[in-house]
Amino acid sequence: MLTAIRGAMLTFKDDPFEKDMKDCMVHESDAIILIEDGKIKDVGPAADMLKKVPAGVEIVSYKDSVIVPGFIDTHVHYPQTQIIGAYGEQLLDWLNNYTFIAEQQFANKDHADEVAEVFLGECLKNGVTSATVYCTVYPQSVDAFFEAAEKRNMRVQAGKITMDRFAPEALLDTPQRAYDESAALAKKWHGRGRAEYVITPRFAPTSTPEQLEMVGQLARDFPTALIQSHVSENVSEVEWVKSLFPDCGSYTGVYDKYGLMRERAIYGHGIHLTEEELEIFHATGASVAHCPTSNFFLGSGAFNVKKAKESRRPIKVGLATDLGAGTSFSMLQTLNEAYKAAQLNGNALSAGHAYYLASRGSAEAIGLEDKIGTIAPGFEADLAVIDLYSTPIISYRMKYAKDFAEALFIQMTLGDDRAISATYVAGKKVYDRDAA
Ligand code: GUN
Ligand code: ZN
Repeated sequence: MLTAIRGAMLTFKDDPFEKDMKDCMVHESDAIILIEDGKIKDVGPAADMLKKVPAGVEIVSYKDSVIVPGFIDTHVHYPQTQIIGAYGEQLLDWLNNYTFIAEQQFANKDHADEVAEVFLGECLKNGVTSATVYCTVYPQSVDAFFEAAEKRNMRVQAGKITMDRFAPEALLDTPQRAYDESAALAKKWHGRGRAEYVITPRFAPTSTPEQLEMVGQLARDFPTALIQSHVSENVSEVEWVKSLFPDCGSYTGVYDKYGLMRERAIYGHGIHLTEEELEIFHATGASVAHCPTSNFFLGSGAFNVKKAKESRRPIKVGLATDLGAGTSFSMLQTLNEAYKAAQLNGNALSAGHAYYLASRGSAEAIGLEDKIGTIAPGFEADLAVIDLYSTPIISYRMKYAKDFAEALFIQMTLGDDRAISATYVAGKKVYDRDAA
Protein backbone atom coordinates (compact mmCIF):
# COMPACT_ATOMS: atom_id res chain seq x y z
CA MET A 1 0.00 0.00 0.00
CA LEU A 2 1.19 3.52 -0.83
CA THR A 3 1.07 6.40 1.61
CA ALA A 4 2.56 9.88 1.43
CA ILE A 5 3.54 12.61 3.82
CA ARG A 6 4.31 16.21 3.00
CA GLY A 7 6.24 18.96 4.74
CA ALA A 8 9.65 20.55 5.12
CA MET A 9 12.33 17.87 5.32
CA LEU A 10 15.89 17.57 6.60
CA THR A 11 18.27 14.70 5.95
CA PHE A 12 21.97 14.02 5.30
CA LYS A 13 23.68 12.06 2.59
CA ASP A 14 27.22 12.31 3.97
CA ASP A 15 29.27 13.26 7.03
CA PRO A 16 29.56 17.06 7.44
CA PHE A 17 32.47 16.60 9.85
CA GLU A 18 34.43 15.25 6.87
CA LYS A 19 32.91 17.11 3.90
CA ASP A 20 31.36 20.48 3.17
CA MET A 21 27.97 20.89 4.80
CA LYS A 22 26.44 21.88 1.47
CA ASP A 23 27.42 18.49 0.02
CA CYS A 24 25.94 16.64 2.98
CA MET A 25 22.73 18.31 4.12
CA VAL A 26 19.51 17.96 2.13
CA HIS A 27 16.83 20.46 3.09
CA GLU A 28 13.59 20.72 1.17
CA SER A 29 11.17 23.43 2.27
CA ASP A 30 8.23 21.47 0.85
CA ALA A 31 8.82 17.77 0.18
CA ILE A 32 6.66 14.73 -0.37
CA ILE A 33 7.84 11.35 0.90
CA LEU A 34 6.14 8.42 -0.83
CA ILE A 35 6.12 5.22 1.23
CA GLU A 36 5.40 1.63 0.19
CA ASP A 37 5.64 -1.53 2.32
CA GLY A 38 7.50 0.24 5.11
CA LYS A 39 10.14 1.76 2.85
CA ILE A 40 10.65 5.09 1.15
CA LYS A 41 9.75 4.61 -2.50
CA ASP A 42 10.41 8.15 -3.65
CA VAL A 43 11.05 11.60 -2.20
CA GLY A 44 11.54 15.06 -3.61
CA PRO A 45 10.16 18.58 -3.88
CA ALA A 46 6.36 18.55 -3.73
CA ALA A 47 6.15 20.32 -7.09
CA ASP A 48 7.77 17.28 -8.77
CA MET A 49 6.33 14.60 -6.54
CA LEU A 50 2.70 15.68 -6.97
CA LYS A 51 2.91 14.38 -10.53
CA LYS A 52 4.20 11.03 -9.32
CA VAL A 53 1.82 10.29 -6.46
CA PRO A 54 -0.93 8.08 -7.91
CA ALA A 55 -4.50 9.35 -7.71
CA GLY A 56 -6.29 8.18 -4.57
CA VAL A 57 -3.19 8.13 -2.36
CA GLU A 58 -3.84 10.30 0.65
CA ILE A 59 -1.12 12.88 1.39
CA VAL A 60 -0.79 13.75 5.09
CA SER A 61 0.60 17.30 5.42
CA TYR A 62 2.62 18.70 8.29
CA LYS A 63 2.87 22.44 8.21
CA ASP A 64 5.15 24.58 10.40
CA SER A 65 7.15 21.41 10.94
CA VAL A 66 10.21 19.59 9.71
CA ILE A 67 10.26 15.89 8.91
CA VAL A 68 13.53 14.22 9.90
CA PRO A 69 14.80 10.63 9.94
CA GLY A 70 13.66 8.94 13.15
CA PHE A 71 16.27 9.57 15.84
CA ILE A 72 18.69 6.76 16.69
CA ASP A 73 19.83 6.34 20.30
CA THR A 74 23.08 4.39 20.06
CA HIS A 75 23.58 3.61 23.77
CA VAL A 76 20.84 3.22 26.35
CA HIS A 77 19.95 0.97 29.31
CA TYR A 78 16.23 0.20 29.31
CA PRO A 79 16.35 -1.38 32.81
CA GLN A 80 17.55 1.93 34.22
CA THR A 81 14.31 3.72 33.26
CA GLN A 82 13.34 3.38 36.92
CA ILE A 83 16.44 5.15 38.28
CA ILE A 84 16.70 8.26 36.09
CA GLY A 85 17.81 11.16 38.24
CA ALA A 86 19.36 9.18 41.13
CA TYR A 87 21.06 11.81 43.23
CA GLY A 88 24.57 12.69 43.89
CA GLU A 89 27.26 10.27 42.83
CA GLN A 90 29.85 9.56 40.19
CA LEU A 91 30.06 6.46 38.06
CA LEU A 92 31.38 3.71 40.33
CA ASP A 93 29.25 4.60 43.38
CA TRP A 94 26.24 5.25 41.17
CA LEU A 95 26.58 1.73 39.74
CA ASN A 96 26.84 0.09 43.16
CA ASN A 97 24.22 2.14 44.96
CA TYR A 98 21.50 2.43 42.34
CA THR A 99 22.10 0.54 39.11
CA PHE A 100 23.03 -2.88 40.42
CA ILE A 101 20.06 -2.79 42.78
CA ALA A 102 17.54 -1.89 40.08
CA GLU A 103 18.90 -4.43 37.58
CA GLN A 104 18.29 -7.34 39.97
CA GLN A 105 14.55 -6.82 39.54
CA PHE A 106 14.86 -7.93 35.92
CA ALA A 107 15.15 -11.56 36.95
CA ASN A 108 11.37 -11.16 37.00
CA LYS A 109 10.09 -11.32 33.42
CA ASP A 110 6.87 -9.49 34.28
CA HIS A 111 8.84 -6.57 35.63
CA ALA A 112 11.04 -6.55 32.54
CA ASP A 113 7.98 -6.64 30.26
CA GLU A 114 6.46 -3.68 32.05
CA VAL A 115 9.62 -1.55 31.92
CA ALA A 116 10.23 -2.40 28.25
CA GLU A 117 6.74 -1.09 27.45
CA VAL A 118 7.31 2.17 29.32
CA PHE A 119 10.74 2.58 27.76
CA LEU A 120 9.66 2.07 24.14
CA GLY A 121 6.59 4.26 24.63
CA GLU A 122 8.88 7.09 25.74
CA CYS A 123 11.24 6.49 22.82
CA LEU A 124 8.43 6.86 20.29
CA LYS A 125 7.07 9.93 22.05
CA ASN A 126 10.49 11.48 21.51
CA GLY A 127 10.81 10.50 17.86
CA VAL A 128 13.38 7.79 18.67
CA THR A 129 12.66 4.95 16.27
CA SER A 130 15.78 2.88 16.80
CA ALA A 131 18.02 2.13 19.78
CA THR A 132 21.08 0.11 20.74
CA VAL A 133 20.16 -1.24 24.12
CA TYR A 134 21.69 -2.87 27.20
CA CYS A 135 19.39 -5.31 28.91
CA THR A 136 20.60 -7.07 32.10
CA VAL A 137 22.49 -10.27 32.81
CA TYR A 138 19.16 -12.18 32.80
CA PRO A 139 18.19 -13.65 29.40
CA GLN A 140 14.50 -13.08 30.16
CA SER A 141 15.17 -9.34 30.30
CA VAL A 142 16.46 -9.57 26.72
CA ASP A 143 13.41 -11.51 25.55
CA ALA A 144 11.19 -8.90 27.20
CA PHE A 145 12.85 -6.11 25.32
CA PHE A 146 12.89 -7.77 21.90
CA GLU A 147 9.28 -8.89 22.27
CA ALA A 148 8.13 -5.36 23.08
CA ALA A 149 10.08 -3.94 20.12
CA GLU A 150 8.80 -6.63 17.75
CA LYS A 151 5.21 -5.71 18.61
CA ARG A 152 6.00 -2.20 17.39
CA ASN A 153 8.09 -3.39 14.42
CA MET A 154 10.98 -1.21 15.61
CA ARG A 155 14.54 -1.63 14.34
CA VAL A 156 16.40 -2.38 17.56
CA GLN A 157 19.72 -3.80 18.65
CA ALA A 158 20.07 -5.29 22.12
CA GLY A 159 21.92 -7.82 24.20
CA LYS A 160 22.43 -9.54 27.51
CA ILE A 161 25.01 -7.95 29.79
CA THR A 162 27.85 -10.31 30.64
CA MET A 163 29.75 -9.77 33.89
CA ASP A 164 31.45 -12.15 36.27
CA ARG A 165 33.02 -9.95 38.93
CA PHE A 166 32.68 -6.71 40.94
CA ALA A 167 28.88 -6.73 41.10
CA PRO A 168 26.35 -8.37 43.44
CA GLU A 169 26.35 -12.18 43.23
CA ALA A 170 22.84 -12.21 41.77
CA LEU A 171 23.98 -10.18 38.75
CA LEU A 172 26.99 -12.32 37.88
CA ASP A 173 27.25 -14.99 35.24
CA THR A 174 30.39 -17.02 34.42
CA PRO A 175 32.56 -17.17 31.30
CA GLN A 176 30.66 -20.25 30.08
CA ARG A 177 27.20 -18.91 30.94
CA ALA A 178 28.04 -15.63 29.25
CA TYR A 179 28.84 -17.58 26.10
CA ASP A 180 25.94 -20.01 26.23
CA GLU A 181 23.22 -17.52 27.13
CA SER A 182 24.44 -14.88 24.68
CA ALA A 183 24.75 -17.43 21.87
CA ALA A 184 21.24 -18.76 22.50
CA LEU A 185 19.81 -15.23 22.46
CA ALA A 186 21.75 -14.31 19.32
CA LYS A 187 20.43 -17.42 17.56
CA LYS A 188 16.92 -16.51 18.59
CA TRP A 189 16.93 -12.78 17.83
CA HIS A 190 19.75 -11.76 15.49
CA GLY A 191 18.16 -10.93 12.15
CA ARG A 192 14.61 -11.78 13.28
CA GLY A 193 12.40 -9.08 11.73
CA ARG A 194 14.11 -5.80 12.50
CA ALA A 195 16.02 -7.08 15.56
CA GLU A 196 19.76 -7.57 15.84
CA TYR A 197 21.83 -9.00 18.64
CA VAL A 198 24.54 -7.04 20.45
CA ILE A 199 27.33 -8.85 22.30
CA THR A 200 27.39 -6.88 25.56
CA PRO A 201 30.24 -7.17 28.07
CA ARG A 202 29.19 -4.44 30.55
CA PHE A 203 32.70 -2.89 30.75
CA ALA A 204 36.21 -4.20 31.15
CA PRO A 205 36.32 -4.14 34.99
CA THR A 206 33.29 -6.43 35.46
CA SER A 207 34.66 -9.22 33.28
CA THR A 208 37.57 -11.49 34.18
CA PRO A 209 40.14 -12.11 31.45
CA GLU A 210 38.60 -15.60 31.16
CA GLN A 211 35.20 -14.08 30.44
CA LEU A 212 36.62 -11.62 27.91
CA GLU A 213 38.16 -14.62 26.11
CA MET A 214 34.71 -16.18 25.84
CA VAL A 215 33.18 -12.89 24.70
CA GLY A 216 35.88 -12.68 22.02
CA GLN A 217 34.88 -16.20 20.96
CA LEU A 218 31.26 -15.03 20.70
CA ALA A 219 32.40 -12.16 18.50
CA ARG A 220 34.16 -14.62 16.19
CA ASP A 221 31.21 -17.01 16.14
CA PHE A 222 28.70 -14.23 15.41
CA PRO A 223 30.63 -12.03 12.97
CA THR A 224 27.61 -9.95 11.92
CA ALA A 225 26.42 -9.22 15.47
CA LEU A 226 27.09 -5.81 17.01
CA ILE A 227 29.30 -5.37 20.08
CA GLN A 228 28.77 -2.78 22.80
CA SER A 229 30.48 -1.76 26.00
CA HIS A 230 31.71 1.30 27.90
CA VAL A 231 35.12 2.93 27.60
CA SER A 232 36.97 5.73 29.32
CA GLU A 233 33.99 7.40 30.95
CA ASN A 234 35.40 8.44 34.30
CA VAL A 235 38.95 9.17 35.49
CA SER A 236 38.78 6.75 38.47
CA GLU A 237 37.38 4.07 36.20
CA VAL A 238 40.27 4.50 33.74
CA GLU A 239 42.79 4.09 36.59
CA TRP A 240 40.96 1.00 37.81
CA VAL A 241 41.07 -0.61 34.36
CA LYS A 242 44.81 0.08 34.13
CA SER A 243 45.37 -1.66 37.46
CA LEU A 244 43.23 -4.66 36.47
CA PHE A 245 44.77 -5.08 33.00
CA PRO A 246 48.33 -3.78 33.36
CA ASP A 247 49.54 -5.52 30.20
CA CYS A 248 46.97 -4.06 27.80
CA GLY A 249 48.47 -0.59 27.38
CA SER A 250 45.17 1.24 27.65
CA TYR A 251 41.46 0.83 28.31
CA THR A 252 40.81 0.43 24.58
CA GLY A 253 43.76 -1.95 24.48
CA VAL A 254 41.75 -4.38 26.66
CA TYR A 255 38.93 -4.60 24.12
CA ASP A 256 41.45 -4.79 21.29
CA LYS A 257 43.32 -7.66 22.93
CA TYR A 258 40.13 -9.74 23.16
CA GLY A 259 39.02 -9.10 19.57
CA LEU A 260 36.23 -6.68 20.44
CA MET A 261 37.29 -3.71 18.32
CA ARG A 262 35.75 -3.91 14.85
CA GLU A 263 33.08 -2.44 12.58
CA ARG A 264 29.72 -2.36 14.40
CA ALA A 265 31.42 -2.32 17.81
CA ILE A 266 30.23 0.74 19.72
CA TYR A 267 31.63 2.01 23.00
CA GLY A 268 29.84 4.47 25.26
CA HIS A 269 31.52 7.72 26.36
CA GLY A 270 35.20 7.70 25.34
CA ILE A 271 35.71 11.02 27.10
CA HIS A 272 39.28 10.41 28.23
CA LEU A 273 40.56 8.42 25.26
CA THR A 274 44.20 9.07 24.40
CA GLU A 275 45.47 9.72 20.91
CA GLU A 276 46.74 6.11 20.67
CA GLU A 277 43.30 4.84 21.63
CA LEU A 278 41.60 7.04 19.06
CA GLU A 279 43.98 5.52 16.51
CA ILE A 280 42.75 2.04 17.45
CA PHE A 281 39.14 3.14 16.95
CA HIS A 282 40.00 4.59 13.56
CA ALA A 283 42.01 1.57 12.42
CA THR A 284 39.42 -0.99 13.49
CA GLY A 285 36.26 0.89 12.43
CA ALA A 286 34.80 0.79 15.95
CA SER A 287 32.76 3.79 17.08
CA VAL A 288 31.97 5.94 20.11
CA ALA A 289 28.49 6.67 21.47
CA HIS A 290 28.49 10.27 22.69
CA CYS A 291 26.28 10.53 25.79
CA PRO A 292 26.34 14.18 26.88
CA THR A 293 23.44 14.29 29.35
CA SER A 294 24.89 11.30 31.17
CA ASN A 295 28.41 12.70 31.16
CA PHE A 296 27.25 15.94 32.77
CA PHE A 297 24.93 14.17 35.20
CA LEU A 298 27.65 11.86 36.55
CA GLY A 299 30.29 14.59 36.36
CA SER A 300 32.32 12.44 33.96
CA GLY A 301 33.51 15.15 31.60
CA ALA A 302 32.86 16.55 28.13
CA PHE A 303 33.55 14.35 25.08
CA ASN A 304 35.37 16.20 22.30
CA VAL A 305 33.54 15.29 19.11
CA LYS A 306 35.61 17.59 16.94
CA LYS A 307 38.81 15.92 18.08
CA ALA A 308 37.30 12.48 17.47
CA LYS A 309 36.51 13.54 13.92
CA GLU A 310 39.95 14.94 13.07
CA SER A 311 40.52 14.27 9.39
CA ARG A 312 43.84 12.45 9.79
CA ARG A 313 42.08 9.61 11.73
CA PRO A 314 38.33 10.27 11.90
CA ILE A 315 36.27 7.92 14.03
CA LYS A 316 32.55 7.21 13.82
CA VAL A 317 30.46 8.90 16.51
CA GLY A 318 26.82 8.23 17.33
CA LEU A 319 24.58 10.18 19.69
CA ALA A 320 23.07 8.54 22.75
CA THR A 321 21.02 9.21 25.85
CA ASP A 322 22.64 6.57 28.11
CA LEU A 323 19.57 6.54 30.31
CA GLY A 324 19.37 6.12 33.33
CA ALA A 325 22.62 8.06 33.88
CA GLY A 326 21.38 10.17 31.00
CA THR A 327 18.60 12.51 32.01
CA SER A 328 16.27 12.74 29.01
CA PHE A 329 14.67 10.53 26.37
CA SER A 330 14.61 13.60 24.12
CA MET A 331 17.26 13.63 21.40
CA LEU A 332 16.66 17.38 21.07
CA GLN A 333 17.66 17.80 24.71
CA THR A 334 20.58 15.43 24.14
CA LEU A 335 21.74 17.70 21.30
CA ASN A 336 21.34 20.70 23.58
CA GLU A 337 23.86 19.09 25.94
CA ALA A 338 26.08 17.92 23.07
CA TYR A 339 26.36 21.57 22.06
CA LYS A 340 27.48 22.49 25.58
CA ALA A 341 29.99 19.62 25.69
CA ALA A 342 31.47 20.92 22.44
CA GLN A 343 31.56 24.45 23.82
CA LEU A 344 33.57 23.28 26.83
CA ASN A 345 36.07 21.86 24.35
CA GLY A 346 36.36 25.19 22.57
CA ASN A 347 34.12 24.58 19.60
CA ALA A 348 30.48 25.22 18.82
CA LEU A 349 28.51 22.36 17.28
CA SER A 350 26.33 23.71 14.46
CA ALA A 351 22.71 22.64 14.14
CA GLY A 352 23.58 20.80 10.93
CA HIS A 353 26.35 18.81 12.60
CA ALA A 354 24.08 18.10 15.55
CA TYR A 355 21.12 16.71 13.55
CA TYR A 356 23.56 14.67 11.48
CA LEU A 357 24.87 13.04 14.67
CA ALA A 358 21.35 12.15 15.81
CA SER A 359 20.42 10.53 12.50
CA ARG A 360 22.84 9.44 9.79
CA GLY A 361 25.89 9.73 12.06
CA SER A 362 24.30 7.36 14.55
CA ALA A 363 23.31 4.96 11.77
CA GLU A 364 26.92 4.91 10.53
CA ALA A 365 28.17 4.27 14.06
CA ILE A 366 26.12 1.06 14.27
CA GLY A 367 26.59 0.02 10.65
CA LEU A 368 22.99 0.64 9.59
CA GLU A 369 23.59 3.61 7.28
CA ASP A 370 22.13 1.68 4.33
CA LYS A 371 18.82 1.07 6.16
CA ILE A 372 17.94 3.90 8.55
CA GLY A 373 18.94 7.46 9.45
CA THR A 374 18.43 8.97 5.99
CA ILE A 375 15.35 10.00 4.02
CA ALA A 376 15.98 8.63 0.52
CA PRO A 377 14.53 5.95 -1.76
CA GLY A 378 15.12 2.42 -0.46
CA PHE A 379 15.54 3.43 3.18
CA GLU A 380 13.19 2.18 5.86
CA ALA A 381 10.48 4.76 6.54
CA ASP A 382 11.31 5.57 10.17
CA LEU A 383 10.52 9.27 10.57
CA ALA A 384 9.92 11.94 13.18
CA VAL A 385 7.96 15.14 12.70
CA ILE A 386 9.24 18.15 14.63
CA ASP A 387 6.63 20.84 15.28
CA LEU A 388 8.58 24.10 15.06
CA TYR A 389 6.08 25.93 17.31
CA SER A 390 5.48 23.45 20.13
CA THR A 391 5.54 25.77 23.16
CA PRO A 392 4.75 29.45 23.73
CA ILE A 393 8.39 30.39 24.23
CA ILE A 394 9.54 28.48 21.14
CA SER A 395 6.80 30.19 19.07
CA TYR A 396 7.90 33.55 20.39
CA ARG A 397 11.58 32.85 19.76
CA MET A 398 10.83 31.58 16.23
CA LYS A 399 9.57 35.06 15.26
CA TYR A 400 13.19 36.17 15.40
CA ALA A 401 14.70 33.18 13.59
CA LYS A 402 16.41 34.47 10.49
CA ASP A 403 16.85 31.19 8.63
CA PHE A 404 16.36 27.42 8.73
CA ALA A 405 19.62 26.74 10.59
CA GLU A 406 18.51 29.05 13.37
CA ALA A 407 15.08 27.43 13.51
CA LEU A 408 16.75 24.03 13.92
CA PHE A 409 19.06 25.35 16.59
CA ILE A 410 16.13 26.81 18.54
CA GLN A 411 14.45 23.38 18.51
CA MET A 412 17.49 21.61 19.93
CA THR A 413 17.96 24.26 22.60
CA LEU A 414 14.36 24.71 23.75
CA GLY A 415 12.56 21.65 22.38
CA ASP A 416 11.74 18.35 24.05
CA ASP A 417 9.09 15.64 23.72
CA ARG A 418 6.44 18.29 23.13
CA ALA A 419 8.14 19.18 19.85
CA ILE A 420 7.57 15.71 18.39
CA SER A 421 4.14 15.76 16.81
CA ALA A 422 4.31 12.39 15.06
CA THR A 423 6.55 9.35 14.80
CA TYR A 424 6.50 6.79 11.99
CA VAL A 425 7.95 3.30 12.21
CA ALA A 426 8.35 1.46 8.90
CA GLY A 427 5.86 3.84 7.33
CA LYS A 428 3.20 3.46 10.00
CA LYS A 429 2.26 6.32 12.29
CA VAL A 430 2.86 4.89 15.76
CA TYR A 431 2.70 8.11 17.76
CA ASP A 432 0.49 11.14 17.27
CA ARG A 433 0.96 13.80 19.92
CA ASP A 434 -2.32 15.52 19.30
CA ALA A 435 -4.35 12.31 19.25
CA ALA A 436 -2.67 11.00 22.37
N1 GUN B 1 29.76 1.68 33.00
C1 GUN B 1 29.44 0.40 33.29
N2 GUN B 1 28.11 0.24 33.41
C2 GUN B 1 27.57 1.44 33.20
C3 GUN B 1 26.23 1.93 33.20
O1 GUN B 1 25.25 1.20 33.42
N3 GUN B 1 26.06 3.25 32.94
C4 GUN B 1 27.11 4.08 32.68
N4 GUN B 1 26.88 5.36 32.42
N5 GUN B 1 28.38 3.65 32.68
C5 GUN B 1 28.60 2.35 32.95
ZN1 ZN C 1 25.86 3.08 29.51
